[in-house]
Amino acid sequence: MIPTRVWAISDVHIDYQENFEQLVSFAGAGHRQDTLILAGDATDRLDRLEALFQALTAGFRQVLFVPGNHELWVRRSGEPDSLAKLEAIHELCRTTGVRTEPVLVGEYHKVWLVPLLSWYDDKDQPEHSLFLDKDYAEDRTDDLWGDFIHARWPGDLQQPLAQWFAQANEPHLRRAFEHPVISFSHFLPRQDLIFQKSVVESMRLARHFDPLPEFNFSRVAGSRRIEEQLRRLGSRLHIYGHQHRNRLRTIDGVTYLSHCMGYPKERQRGHVPAEASQPLCVWRDDTGFTL
Ligand SMILES: [Fe+2]
Ligand SMILES: [Fe+2]
Repeated sequence: MIPTRVWAISDVHIDYQENFEQLVSFAGAGHRQDTLILAGDATDRLDRLEALFQALTAGFRQVLFVPGNHELWVRRSGEPDSLAKLEAIHELCRTTGVRTEPVLVGEYHKVWLVPLLSWYDDKDQPEHSLFLDKDYAEDRTDDLWGDFIHARWPGDLQQPLAQWFAQANEPHLRRAFEHPVISFSHFLPRQDLIFQKSVVESMRLARHFDPLPEFNFSRVAGSRRIEEQLRRLGSRLHIYGHQHRNRLRTIDGVTYLSHCMGYPKERQRGHVPAEASQPLCVWRDDTGFTL
């Protein structure tokens, strides 16, 4: 008998029909005992998200989801703001059977799967931001980043967005996790994960080879609040997405995995490896962690 397995993927961007079909076809290929972690950026359209959830819950025993920034865009929805959209997404998860709270899986090697809601801290939150200054270029990120156009937040929100999202995780963090933990977020938990090389070397190279000097991804990449929460959980493996630059790295006892499906053109150009068109197995009940 095939053991229960846990698979992970993010940034499936199903408005590309090719991505939708690849994921649905994977779901239908022998995963009735398995669990899928979907770490955000599927689509901003609720009707498309519902179709995806229905197909995935038909193929997998369990599906766990955290929204990414694209889900919280309100440009094509009737929601008044992005927090109302978040509530609509959670309601959709409830009605389709998609899980958004910690789940224990396995019978032999047990593991907790813990979703962490998140947002990024911009440079006005230096204590938590992943921001790195590009002193060689004008910063036009405000004009270039889709969230600043398509997401909308309640005017009376008194705290930084990333803090609001981190606080929403607190009820889940207070419980005891008596087995190993796999946590997952859409956004990056650490500045050093932005780069393939060291931060210093990467910034030195960027002065000469930056393809988009006026866009500063580090302003919208993630938050150290995610790192703080996953460390409190004692997470062994943290899965994240968002950047569409896949990584597998172990730092101070935690393995960080980014396995983004990305856009078809990113896979064609090699920015995202071709094998990312399918979820990756990260854990199985007979042998435990696979990475
Ligand atoms: Fe994405
Ligand atoms: Fe994203």
